[in-house]
Amino acid sequence: MLPLLLILLTLARIHAHYTSGDVAYHPMPHFWTGVGFCPAGRIDHEGIEAALVSPALQMNLRQIAALPVGAVTHIRIHWLLELVQFRQYDANGIPIYDFTKFDDFIDFLHEELRLSPVLEWMGNLGGVFLENPMQMPFYWEHLVKTTINHQLARHGSARMSNWRYETWNEPDLRVYNKLNLTSQSYLDYVQAVRQGLSKAGNLDTYEGKVQLPMYRALRGPAGLFKSSDTHPLCWKLLEQCNEKVVYCPIDILTFHRKGIDGTATEIVNGSLSLMAKIYEDYPNLKSLPVANDEADPVAVWSTPREFQADVRYGITLISTVMEHWHAKLAGGPLGRLESISHDNAFLSYHPHEFTQRTLLAHFQMNETDPPHSQFIQKPVYAALGMLAKLGNRAADMELVNMDSKHSVEVLRTVSGGVGGPGQYMAAIFLSPEEAGPQRTAFHHKYTLNMSIANESAFITEILVPHTTDPYFVWQQAGSPAYPNATLREAMRRAQTPKLYETGPIWQYNSELVINSATLPLPWAVLLRVCSTAWPKLRRPQQLSIVEVTHREVFISWAEHPKSTQCLRTYEVWFKERDSKGPAADWQLISQDWHLPYPSFQYAPGDQGSVNGFYKVRGVNVFNETSPYSQIVEYLEL
Ligand SMILES: *[C@@H]1O[C@H](CO)[C@@H](O)[C@H](O)[C@H]1NC(C)=O
Ligand SMILES: *[C@@H]1O[C@H](CO)[C@@H](O)[C@H](O)[C@H]1NC(C)=O
Ligand SMILES: *[C@@H]1O[C@H](CO)[C@@H](O)[C@H](O)[C@H]1NC(C)=O
Ligand SMILES: *[C@@H]1O[C@H](CO)[C@@H](O)[C@H](O)[C@H]1NC(C)=O
Ligand SMILES: *[C@@H]1O[C@H](CO)[C@@H](O)[C@H](O)[C@H]1NC(C)=O
Ligand SMILES: *[C@@H]1O[C@H](CO)[C@@H](O)[C@H](O)[C@H]1NC(C)=O
Ligand SMILES: *[C@@H]1O[C@H](CO)[C@@H](O)[C@H](O)[C@H]1NC(C)=O
Repeated sequence: MLPLLLILLTLARIHAHYTSGDVAYHPMPHFWTGVGFCPAGRIDHEGIEAALVSPALQMNLRQIAALPVGAVTHIRIHWLLELVQFRQYDANGIPIYDFTKFDDFIDFLHEELRLSPVLEWMGNLGGVFLENPMQMPFYWEHLVKTTINHQLARHGSARMSNWRYETWNEPDLRVYNKLNLTSQSYLDYVQAVRQGLSKAGNLDTYEGKVQLPMYRALRGPAGLFKSSDTHPLCWKLLEQCNEKVVYCPIDILTFHRKGIDGTATEIVNGSLSLMAKIYEDYPNLKSLPVANDEADPVAVWSTPREFQADVRYGITLISTVMEHWHAKLAGGPLGRLESISHDNAFLSYHPHEFTQRTLLAHFQMNETDPPHSQFIQKPVYAALGMLAKLGNRAADMELVNMDSKHSVEVLRTVSGGVGGPGQYMAAIFLSPEEAGPQRTAFHHKYTLNMSIANESAFITEILVPHTTDPYFVWQQAGSPAYPNATLREAMRRAQTPKLYETGPIWQYNSELVINSATLPLPWAVLLRVCSTAWPKLRRPQQLSIVEVTHREVFISWAEHPKSTQCLRTYEVWFKERDSKGPAADWQLISQDWHLPYPSFQYAPGDQGSVNGFYKVRGVNVFNETSPYSQIVEYLEL
């Protein structure tokens, strides 16, 4: 036995002691990797286009896409379809659409961000649907079919295999129901969308090959499901589906349930009660998978809330995932949970840079010429990255009591080594937000059997108040609207999980002891253990350097899935382009930074230059480096 004491025991007595026993692991798809938002501004072709091409919004998305591979796979953007522009009717009265703007944005999503859209069939496309109320189903079917066929012709079906399609968002709400759909016209619309999806693709060829007919699942009704009097559209659809479930136009039942006061338990509890009610009234729907598209701690993204700025929101998001996993395993009303999504990809605005429900803090630097945007990753962003490191088999969530009312949530996962203990292990420990009596240190010891191999290495990273909290850093500096370069760097140093401890494990049956006595609440600990048999780090791909402002760039790259589970940090190297001749040496510009995620913002200041060559490589927990990425040159205009 080799006990690794992570936090030294002080004078205190240990109040609770948890030792992991044997647990059963179940296959766990990463079901929480969707995010969403609604673009600001007017809802028509010009308005949505202006919002989606704005440099601030695109940088926000670049940052989200620069999370560890697999952390975010899908993005749900309301009114995305408005990017398709209605041109005119042809001689037969069939609309002709222009897909230029839609294609541009989809290319940005696919090629630069490597994200798949959740395409909601909602919009009025230059008035087509309101002008033709009697033929609305025909026009919807045509639009759906035309849009899919157009994309198939451009990308082929393989590139679109991860796309998700959904019906109109929250159709019972007047703000969304711009077509004034009634119960009957809504049902017709859903059937028409289903028809369009089914008819698309079958007769088309791509690069000379006939496309195989592929079934495209339809999600819906993306409803809030308040009372059936106030939300008749969504309830009517369920009623109809229950009568003849084989003819039900939707394949995955989607709903929106948020918390009330911001806790994960409320989200899960609300979803359990809703699904229990749905199954009671419509038992045939038990055959459909279900998804909560907007599983957020509290409604209205733009309302500033302190907890959304700091570590607490990160902890809540992780807890939301763990509790959904527990509910899914339990096999009750959430037994068929397919996914949850977080509605937190919004662009925050002054003076709520940190406190709105977003993944990043957004500073509009109006005093520079031209103005530009600066982004700081919030702890909830770091939390999504930590979740990406979980394995693909997981035990049920375990609870370790802290006191009579509070407990630590533990989720243990493994990957590889079928049947055995696995070649990779990742566990998240999550403290409660508080425990009584306030501020007394809690003396808890968690002992984990890390037996995965004789030769392995471990790493622990933490999210903890103040230390990994850029909001705190900003407040300490007086919360300036335009944080200067020094403050921005200080915030960025606090934006990743903190490396806590790492090292080799030489013996089978090693034990890891985490003692949370000295960590302020609330905290999250991610522990990873890698055996030498786990795939080695591959070279980083698709290195991209994007301007933030003069003498400042955002550098990001793509990770190879799997090989980065055992990553410790990245190194970013730069070689200045010297106009005088032979270039200078390569410099490690990320010296002293802990960079567990694939991005780095480089701001060398007034004396430095960003013009030159860049390359990056990863370092794993065994201190082995990956090959360097390709070298990319950047030149300021
Ligand atoms: C939809 O209904 C609202 C309220 O009844 C009305 O003000 C609006 O003009 C209608 N919109 C359309 C496009 O018919
Ligand atoms: C769970 O939800 C039900 C129904 O919405 C509510 O009555 C109950 O108090 C909730 N329980 C918790 C612990 O939030
Ligand atoms: C740790 O796990 C291994 C493999 O599952 C088992 O053989 C060993 O007895 C365990 N050790 C402890 C201290 O529980
Ligand atoms: C691990 O090491 C121990 C002692 O060093 C040895 O007895 C055992 O066979 C090794 N196990 C494996 C799986 O290599
Ligand atoms: C940057 O801002 C911080 C906090 O607002 C301030 O303390 C510091 O003096 C500023 N530094 C420079 C170089 O202006
Ligand atoms: C910067 O400009 C934007 C757009 O004009 C405005 O909304 C925002 O409030 C300004 N920021 C500050 C700190 O004044
Ligand atoms: C890797 O290097 C770090 C820092 O030098 C050291 O603390 C750690 O023990 C090393 N890890 C391994 C597996 O040797």
